[in-house]
Amino acid sequence: MRRAYRSIAIDGPSGAGKSSLSGQLARAIGYLHVDTGAIYRTVGLAASRRAIGKEDAQAVAAMLPELDIQVRYGPDGGQRMVLDGEDVTEAIRSHAVSEWASIVAAIPAVRAFLLDTQRKLAQSHDVIMDGRDIGTVVLPDADLKIFLTAQPKDRARRRYLELCQRGEQADEEQILQDVLRRDRQDMERAASPLRQAPDAVVADTTGKGREESFQLLLKLVQTHLGEVGGVGR
Ligand code: DC
Repeated sequence: MRRAYRSIAIDGPSGAGKSSLSGQLARAIGYLHVDTGAIYRTVGLAASRRAIGKEDAQAVAAMLPELDIQVRYGPDGGQRMVLDGEDVTEAIRSHAVSEWASIVAAIPAVRAFLLDTQRKLAQSHDVIMDGRDIGTVVLPDADLKIFLTAQPKDRARRRYLELCQRGEQADEEQILQDVLRRDRQDMERAASPLRQAPDAVVADTTGKGREESFQLLLKLVQTHLGEVGGVGR
């Protein structure tokens, strides 16, 4: 039996362009974009605000029932994250919160806590959901799974330019080291590590600009799902 809604899972390491490309793709084909990294970042922000020790997984787990995390969508279709009534969409993008997000994402209680929120969105909308374990754990029956990747140097460069644009202090070599460390954390953790689903299609954006990367993904969608949202007619 065909499910009521279609889903596209996009997984891959940080800085491969998952969120921005998924958002652009979702707008082009009329799907809802769910950036699951933003949801983990929101938990990371909550932990950082409570002055919890970075090794204290128990304290992070104990905080979860107190959290009110909402995924909302603005008039432009952009995802907004709301933590305890406060819009934290911009606040979760800092370097410090990236660190915290990676830490909380390794805690099984956090992953279990967020699973339902992610699946419910896919049960009520056509979605493009991006993250690390979407094709392997969250939506194993997704209609299309894409593993989006790029060489670490390319990913560090993009992150560097992004931070500069936001006026944050940035050191490119330091960012490369951080990218490599976070890759290790995401791939080596026991709970839902980042890995390519066996039935995922690989899209490598190394050396590709945004438009070229977007066209690559759009083509994959058209090839695997046919005409969607009027695109490809
Ligand atoms: O994609 P991002 O950098 O915004 O993700 C933030 C952190 O959350 C990153 O360390 C990986 C983690 N994450 C995860 O473990 N599983 C997901 N589905 C999405 C993100």
